[in-house]
Amino acid sequence: MVMTAKPVECGPVEEISLPSSIVVTPAAPLPKVVFGARDVSVYYGDFRAVRDVNVDVYEHQITAFIGPSGCGKTTVLRCFNRMNDLIDAARVEGSVTYRGVDLYHRDVNPVEVRRRIGMVFQKPNPFPKSIYENVAYGPKVAGIKGNMDDIVEKALRSAGLWDEVKSRLKVSGMSLSGGQQQRLCIARAIATEPEVLLMDEPCSALDPIATARIEDLMQQIKNEFTIVIVTHNMQQAARVSDRTAFFTTEVNSESDTRTGLLVEVDETDKIFSKPSDERTENYVTGRFG
Ligand SMILES: Nc1ncnc2c1ncn2[C@@H]1O[C@H](COP(=O)(O)OP(=O)(O)OP(=O)(O)O)[C@@H](O)[C@H]1O
Ligand SMILES: [Mg+2]
Repeated sequence: MVMTAKPVECGPVEEISLPSSIVVTPAAPLPKVVFGARDVSVYYGDFRAVRDVNVDVYEHQITAFIGPSGCGKTTVLRCFNRMNDLIDAARVEGSVTYRGVDLYHRDVNPVEVRRRIGMVFQKPNPFPKSIYENVAYGPKVAGIKGNMDDIVEKALRSAGLWDEVKSRLKVSGMSLSGGQQQRLCIARAIATEPEVLLMDEPCSALDPIATARIEDLMQQIKNEFTIVIVTHNMQQAARVSDRTAFFTTEVNSESDTRTGLLVEVDETDKIFSKPSDERTENYVTGRFG
């Protein structure tokens, strides 16, 4: 039905009641953009490792990066908390924003960036210190106020590790199993109260049980954090993520090098069932990579 607007004379306002058969569903609020990458390329010296990265990461969602080895997933992830600054040869071109602010602006403090945007690496890397100290170190350095015992307990509980370690907080973090060490690293990352967690293949060294625990954990904590995860495990991307970005590589014929590029990013269901690009389809169906 087409409705045309006619000027109406203002009179007394009558209360209108809708027939009970009409159900009014309020529109779902649009998710907020946390990161926006536009035309990002990353170079190591003269070598362009990855190009054409255009992606938005939304608040309280899990965004997965998938694609064959060497396509630049880790490189792009490191752009989001300026970890590439720590690699002398690395140079980022294009624009990366964090909540609308240019992350690479000269007034932005990279140390503060890394406090707000935590990272969990592929290989669990606890400090050679006690479980307690592993978690307390970050909040101490960041000057987070509050009772340290409470801060440590809260972070270990959020990481799903508290019950396993509460009676031995003074033993070395290195004495834990691989899956426990990875959860300790997650506790350490969330103890500084970041807003975002960047996870680079956090389960690649773990067995299916430890992997399932970390996947559950991600679902539980995504209400508080925004998560970007790099994974080679496509079932994992399909299980845990809301959106998926697929990267691939193209051979540079002159130099015989490979540059990564972002092919497409979309709702995870769409990427795995009806992707727009043939290269994505070939990859997710196992015909390539
Ligand atoms: N510190 C570095 N110095 C020089 N080149 C690098 C560095 N880190 C990565 N590269 C190069 O950049 C490209 C992308 O690497 P990156 O580690 O981002 O890929 P990836 O998609 O994470 O791969 P994988 O799945 O194997 O972890 C590769 O060609 C790699 O050799
Ligand atoms: Mg990587």
